[in-house]
Formats: sequence, structure tokens, C-alpha cells
Amino acid sequence: MSYVEVEYPREKGAFYAMLRRQLDLYLAGEANMTARLANASAVLAQAFPDANWVGFYLVDGDSLTVGPFQGKPAVSRIGYGKGVCGTAWREEKAQVVAEVACFAGHIACDCNTHSEIVVPLWRDGAIWGVLDMDSVLPGHFTEADREGLEEAVKLL
Ligand code: SME
Repeated sequence: MSYVEVEYPREKGAFYAMLRRQLDLYLAGEANMTARLANASAVLAQAFPDANWVGFYLVDGDSLTVGPFQGKPAVSRIGYGKGVCGTAWREEKAQVVAEVACFAGHIACDCNTHSEIVVPLWRDGAIWGVLDMDSVLPGHFTEADREGLEEAVKLL
């Protein structure tokens, strides 16, 4: 399928409706999880041009291992409860961080990053990974983004 550029509306409800449509388009008929997450990270990166890292960390025993992503090379493993990602996993709760320098234990992958959002991925009552997005802009991710992304990742 060739990629068709879409213009995301600014209004959050319409933005997330379009994001879910785009994810559906690229996930439809594809069962392979690497393919699904690779295209999902690309769709999300297109939707969030101010994000400098967009991707997935996947539960692998007692740590998270980096999965498909868009951005600079990143730490490959994050322990349970470590960093923003490991905290989202341990607390079973999305983390919205307005300024990463103020988050104790934040794991820096790109010194240009200011804000971050991490959303757990759930299946059958268990977390199997997290979506992680970083931005160069302070306070870039909002509670509306947390809600929109929590809904969107259910498609994965
Ligand atoms: N900042 C994350 C680590 C992963 S990078 O952002 C890609 C954390 O503290 O868990």
C-alpha cells in the first residue's frame, strides 16, 4: 500500500479519530506483531511531528526490550520500575511527563528531549509492552493525548 499523506486536524477528538483510522489502515490484515508495531510507530511519528522518538518497549521477562521505533538509537533494555517506561509498567498506568529533567530516574536517550508520554499496552489483563513518545517541546503531551493514545493502542 502506498502511503497517502494526511493532514491531522488540530482538535483532539478529530485528531484521534483520524489517528485510529490511519492505524486501522496499516494494521488491517497483518497478524505479524513486528510489522504491526513498525507501521504503528511510523503512523504515530507522522501524526506527531514534534515527537523526536516514537516507539515501543515490549515485556521480555523482567525487563522491557526495545521494539519497532522511529528516532535515534535508544537504550535496548529497561528494568521493571526503571525510567518512565518501567514506571508505567510497574504502576500499570500511563505517565505524562511535562519535563523529563524533573522525573527522578528518567532514562535519557536524546538530550534534546523535554517531555514524554508512556502508555501501557494491555492484553488479557496483562501489560505486554508500552508505547513511548518523546518530544523536544516541554509539556507537549496532555491528558487529552493520554486518553486518545490509551484508546488508540487498543487497536494494536
Ligand atoms: N526515556 C525513557 C527511555 C527510553 S527513550 O526515551 C527512547 C524512560 O525513561 O523510560
